[in-house]
Amino acid sequence: MSTPRVLGICGSLRVDSHNRRLLEAATDALPHADWAIARLRGIPAYDADIEARGLPPAVVQLKDQIGDADAIVIATPEYNHSIPGVLKNAIDWASRPAMRSPFVGKPVLMMGASPGRGGAQRALAHLRQVLESMEARPMDDVVSVPEVRRRFHDARPDAELDAELRQALTQLGLPSPHPIR
Ligand SMILES: Cc1cc2nc3c(=O)[nH]c(=O)nc-3n(C[C@H](O)[C@H](O)[C@H](O)COP(=O)(O)O)c2cc1C
Repeated sequence: MSTPRVLGICGSLRVDSHNRRLLEAATDALPHADWAIARLRGIPAYDADIEARGLPPAVVQLKDQIGDADAIVIATPEYNHSIPGVLKNAIDWASRPAMRSPFVGKPVLMMGASPGRGGAQRALAHLRQVLESMEARPMDDVVSVPEVRRRFHDARPDAELDAELRQALTQLGLPSPHPIR
């Protein structure tokens, strides 16, 4: 049985990001997978003229990582009721060429954490629209974490959140060495 390859993408560049912590908790919840974490820092603003001259190395790396992955897990904050520009910009680069990008057919688990009560729900709804536009396969169930500060202790998720992550990750249909409990 081959080891499933999963790409994690965090929509926040912040070192102490709650969403980065959530993504790390997902990697812990699926330890048998071969995880890569995308690096969005260094991806320039999308510019079709730059694209025509040749893709920037950071974009080539991201597209390769998406293409190589069996599934993608995105953890995003909500900025002004939508997804951060940094995440949208990275997705825009990787979405080319339209309908033939590495996103086509790719299963995606969407997650979002917020310090407030929203749980990034509006960002997740926008992210679903964006992913569907490029024929990626966002999973039905999302992981939405309101009041995220209450859910992590010493950077580790509480047992309930850990169980939710394990359950959500099963949707991706990846091979497992043993049933996820
Ligand atoms: C520009 C900006 C806009 C924001 N808009 C929202 C929002 O619409 N809804 C919300 O719940 N939080 C909003 N926030 C607060 C973020 O949820 C909070 O900063 C969060 O910690 C960011 O995620 P991170 O910890 O992963 O970096 C906003 C923050 C910024 C910087």
